[in-house]
Amino acid sequence: VTGATSGIGLEIARGLAGLGARVIMVGRDPGKAARAAEQVGGSVEVALADLSSLDAVRALGAELLERCPRIDVLMSNAGVYRMRRRLTVDGFEETFAVNHLASFLLTHLLLDRLKASAPARIVMVASGAHHGAVLDLDDLQLSRAYGHWKAYSRSKLANVMFTYALARRLDGTGVTANSLHPGFVATHLGSGNHIPVRPFYWVIRPFVRSPRAGARTAVYLASSPECEGENGGYWFDERRVSSSPFSLDEELQERLWAESEALVGLP
Ligand SMILES: NC(=O)c1ccc[n+]([C@@H]2O[C@H](COP(=O)([O-])OP(=O)(O)OC[C@H]3O[C@@H](n4cnc5c(N)ncnc54)[C@H](OP(=O)(O)O)[C@@H]3O)[C@@H](O)[C@H]2O)c1
Repeated sequence: VTGATSGIGLEIARGLAGLGARVIMVGRDPGKAARAAEQVGGSVEVALADLSSLDAVRALGAELLERCPRIDVLMSNAGVYRMRRRLTVDGFEETFAVNHLASFLLTHLLLDRLKASAPARIVMVASGAHHGAVLDLDDLQLSRAYGHWKAYSRSKLANVMFTYALARRLDGTGVTANSLHPGFVATHLGSGNHIPVRPFYWVIRPFVRSPRAGARTAVYLASSPECEGENGGYWFDERRVSSSPFSLDEELQERLWAESEALVGLP
């Protein structure tokens, strides 16, 4: 489970550990990751990686292959919301890099192991924020006109489109790929922008979900026998629902795939 140190990811880890799974919680801060693992208890372990760096993602992939003779579920959950445009060590816009490119690369690095472990499941925590977003494949790094909502919603659109393209390739392998919207959840998303998010979430608390409720569909997709074999869906509240018309464009999904391969240096 990536992004398991906080919010929805922490509750996904708790939910899966509660079902008896051996869970590897991926975090970037050693202290925070250790505290999160302690909070969850049970059969959880920690792996460390700053997913804004492609080298760190590659190292994480290698470490997970070393530590996990089988992988039943890959839960791509880590995400950021950046008010201002920031570049990663690789020179990519950070929201796109963490929310999409890291998941794209990690999935590829673990794919053979997931196939060898079939039946296995890939679950992508996307967002309803993708509705209304449009991906400009000529400016994936938003170098022309950055907007925080634009960057975030496009990265979540990329999650949905990547999952569809992945599901097509996985057809018949015993590995499934689905994305989901967790609902509007009171978490720490948006922190790290020098703007306190806690008071904001405190005010809106009565109108949003708890992280535990936000984790429910992800845990369902990772573990429920009911969705065994379900592939290529977009889910909300444990039901398959429609994603945006834009996300369904297969030609654009394939262009995004090819661009992402080039950006992360896959052949
Ligand atoms: N909250 C909502 O209403 C909502 C709605 C729809 C979708 N989502 C999606 O849900 C997912 C989880 O978000 P959340 O709401 O639970 O937010 P959160 O509490 O801020 O959790 C985000 C997680 O991602 C990790 N992360 C961020 N940047 C990272 C990096 N460079 N390397 C490694 N880990 C990194 C964070 O690690 P640290 O603890 O070290 O910061 C944290 O564990 C995201 O993909 C988000 O887009 C959230």
